[in-house]
Amino acid sequence: MKSVDVRNLLSIDDLEDNFVDILDWAIRYKNETDYHLDFSPLSGMAVGSIYEKPSTRTRVSFEVGITKLGGQPLTLSKNDIQLGSSESVSDTAEVLSRYLDCITYRCFGHESVTELAKHSSVPVINALSDLHHPCQAAADLMTIREKRKPDQGHIAWVGDGNNVLHDLMLAAAMSGYDLVYATPEGMGPDQSVLERARRMGKKYGTKITGTRDPIKAVSGSGVVYTDVFISMGEEHLSDKIKSFDGFQVNSTLTSHARPDYIFMHCLPAHRGDEVTDSVIDSPNSVVFDQAENRMWAQMSILTFLCNHQAWMTYRDLV
Ligand code: CP
Ligand code: NVA
Repeated sequence: MKSVDVRNLLSIDDLEDNFVDILDWAIRYKNETDYHLDFSPLSGMAVGSIYEKPSTRTRVSFEVGITKLGGQPLTLSKNDIQLGSSESVSDTAEVLSRYLDCITYRCFGHESVTELAKHSSVPVINALSDLHHPCQAAADLMTIREKRKPDQGHIAWVGDGNNVLHDLMLAAAMSGYDLVYATPEGMGPDQSVLERARRMGKKYGTKITGTRDPIKAVSGSGVVYTDVFISMGEEHLSDKIKSFDGFQVNSTLTSHARPDYIFMHCLPAHRGDEVTDSVIDSPNSVVFDQAENRMWAQMSILTFLCNHQAWMTYRDLV
């Protein structure tokens, strides 16, 4: 039996041995609509979501997903609550834990979500920090598993070595997919996350490789993935964009991928910067399926963390 003592989701490797099962049940939630309509594992529960940064996908997919599971979503944007100048993260965690059954948190520094989890007595889900975006990686691997087998080409990342790449590397390593990332000099992934992903790769028989050459990364790939060159909170680093010369995902670059490659982007996309319309609007693009899957993947994660008994029951029934 897999581990059941996972309490928080701060980075995707927190789910480790349970990850593939969580993706399988996310796909079931998506496909077996009749079943999940009668299944309310979050009945009587309230889930609060704190946002220090804007969000379209995360916010809406959590609100709708929580409602579908029978729970009550509360969205708490930074301007609406005392968190910040008036109240500490730790006091906020202590107080919210008295009302809520789960807290999701989109923050700037990763240490904020770690601090919230430390002082919360209910599960905490990282809804994006500067270092990790685990809910995105769950939806990404759900999408990849729906459309590609591990022997249909590796995952190629082209762009910044950022939060989305970090969890994508960890998630790929845990679920049987090799990944090659191309990042400009000085823009590579965080070294300690890379080491964690490579350790994970050793355990699960997958490889995570880095290069400075986008063509090398994309050659023979089954998935081509990019993200914005400048993330939220990095607006003051606008000069950074100059480093990404040659890293745009366009039709010339994707001509090196397998003809049946899929194009992925966590969105929002800055069309004309990291990706051209010709790629993101092509039949190879799965970006909107990927966005939809945020909801199904998070529903599976919420069930797993907030009502493990129901998650096991559902798992064994189908
Ligand atoms: N991909 C993603 O997290 O999108 P939002 O910023 O709109 O939530
Ligand atoms: N890397 C991006 C992802 C947005 C969903 C950011 O952090 O802004």
